[in-house]
Amino acid sequence: MSFKDNVVIVTGASSGIGAAAALKFAEEGANVVIVARNKEKLTAVAEKCAENGTKPLVIVADLATDTCIKEIIDTTLTQFGKLNVLVNNAGICGFVDIVSDNIMKKFDEIIATNLRAAAYLTNLSMPHLIKSRGNVVNISGVAAHAVLFPGNLAYCTSKAALDHFTRGVALDVASHGVRLNSICPGPVKSDYMDTLIPDKTKHKDFWDTLSKRTALGKLIEPKEVADLILYLASDKARSITGSSFVIDGGMLLKG
Ligand SMILES: NC(=O)c1ccc[n+]([C@@H]2O[C@H](COP(=O)([O-])OP(=O)(O)OC[C@H]3O[C@@H](n4cnc5c(N)ncnc54)[C@H](OP(=O)(O)O)[C@@H]3O)[C@@H](O)[C@H]2O)c1
Repeated sequence: MSFKDNVVIVTGASSGIGAAAALKFAEEGANVVIVARNKEKLTAVAEKCAENGTKPLVIVADLATDTCIKEIIDTTLTQFGKLNVLVNNAGICGFVDIVSDNIMKKFDEIIATNLRAAAYLTNLSMPHLIKSRGNVVNISGVAAHAVLFPGNLAYCTSKAALDHFTRGVALDVASHGVRLNSICPGPVKSDYMDTLIPDKTKHKDFWDTLSKRTALGKLIEPKEVADLILYLASDKARSITGSSFVIDGGMLLKG
């Protein structure tokens, strides 16, 4: 699955699924643009990519701001002159109750990163993806299909909307040969837990609870999701668009 000479943007590439995908694209010869807020973590990912493949272009950016999003596309096009694949992976989780005072602040934060950033990046990328007959892979979540925890409404809403956005745009641009698909992971062992539960002593218990909620009784590794991202971004998936792929160890199956 060579991506030689392809230009690929991966958002949220400083850890977890995004870092694993960036590494695999770099191994396959792509010019990878890696985006996130944490410069140190991004630099470490860039070094690992360079050791195993191509050296990525690092862009430190907060996807919750429009100016940063425009800068990502402008810098990519200035540097490489084209775009083949956009992976909208960056995301945050957070629990908030509908009756809590700060609900709208949390709701806006989650929607801005998980949904609006993906929509705006897709919008700005589209003329370039039409030229390259490229594609978009959106990282959604099983939360798009089921509400698995109380207080998870903002996150679930963002992921369900991202899946529907994927289908809507897929229909709009199919005549240009551009494809869009989404991936819905279940529990993936990543840095996600650090933002979700600041108290690290509680992490092990929560990961254990999550793995027990899957039919296979296991957590998913970031590189397993990365494999699916590369497949969907490749020509092997040339007839797949507007689809949503669950990789959850059977979490939805178990209920
Ligand atoms: N882990 C799971 O169990 C799971 C399950 C279902 C779906 N997902 C989805 O998978 C995606 C990747 O998550 P992960 O598990 O790999 O978690 P992760 O290790 O925490 O990665 C999240 C990435 O998003 C970036 N990010 C967050 N807010 C950002 C912002 N405002 N601007 C720029 N970058 C931002 C983070 O980078 P910085 O902090 O450096 O900015 C980080 O690189 C997310 O969309 C998540 O919703 C994860």
